[in-house]
Amino acid sequence: PKNRGWVIPIVHQYQGFWHHDWQLQGVLSYQKHFQAQDTDILLVTTPKSGTTWLKAISFAITNRIQYHVASRDHPLIKNNPHVLVPFVEYVYADNPILDFSAIPSPRLFATHVPYVSLPDSVHNSNCKLVYMCRNPKDLFVSLFHFSNKLRPQHMGANSMEEVFELFCEGVSLYGPYWEHVLGFWNESLRRPKEVLFLKYEDMKAQPGTQVRKLAEFYGCPFTAEEEKEGIVESVLKLCNFESLSNLEVNKEGYLPTGQMNKAFFRKGEVGDWKNHLTAEMAERLDMITEHKFEGSGLKF
Ligand code: A3P
Repeated sequence: PKNRGWVIPIVHQYQGFWHHDWQLQGVLSYQKHFQAQDTDILLVTTPKSGTTWLKAISFAITNRIQYHVASRDHPLIKNNPHVLVPFVEYVYADNPILDFSAIPSPRLFATHVPYVSLPDSVHNSNCKLVYMCRNPKDLFVSLFHFSNKLRPQHMGANSMEEVFELFCEGVSLYGPYWEHVLGFWNESLRRPKEVLFLKYEDMKAQPGTQVRKLAEFYGCPFTAEEEKEGIVESVLKLCNFESLSNLEVNKEGYLPTGQMNKAFFRKGEVGDWKNHLTAEMAERLDMITEHKFEGSGLKF
């Protein structure tokens, strides 16, 4: 596997956001070469916001005519969601000049790239963007664990204090976290037909409602027959933490980008920060969040 340790060191600030060396190359090629189509669907997150889950759900919804969601041969049973729905900039990082035009529409992609750094063709098209965010305390805890899982052993583990300090200063992969979220939040207010803003916490609390909302947004709402057949429940069952994390394919092996498949599944809960952050850390994150989101209408 490729040596692509997360979080530290992050060396480049580009258009106001932090990037690794290898991955910034991908962002630049993405900006230069990607041609968005109006029928494209782009899933956007900052790392550890529930991307894997959103990818699985979106793949299941948009491909449900071709692949019945209750089928034992469903592609999600044999493939990690990151293989079925790649991060565009990571594909470009390995293949700087790419042509995605042969992929049949609607094309389903993912990205961590902040709004400001998306290719012009995305800004100027009517392609659909789904942004999923997660409360910063759980996100930070998830990011911290993830980064140490991916970090080569000889580099030693990052301490939580070290990663926390950087995170609060805005230095995290694709960070600052708050500006990343706000970029898409503001765009979702401006262009609600093209940008759907979701929260991991809502997906956990009302998964059925969110999945129906997604299907509608993608232009393929569930029919009365599908509702009767329990397709929404089957989508949720196929994609929930328990199912995905227990699949053989997600317990072993590596993604083309070099990360372990299993690194994307840890606990999948809301509120795990209580087991990891001190009261001071939680308070500091709350204060930053309140300050940064003030006046935006966005709350956790
Ligand atoms: P935790 O570390 O809190 O468990 P991403 O996919 O953006 O990298 O985010 C990973 C986080 O989402 C991890 O959070 C992971 O456990 C959780 N996750 C992965 N698959 C999930 C699923 N199907 N349902 C809910 N959470 C999931």
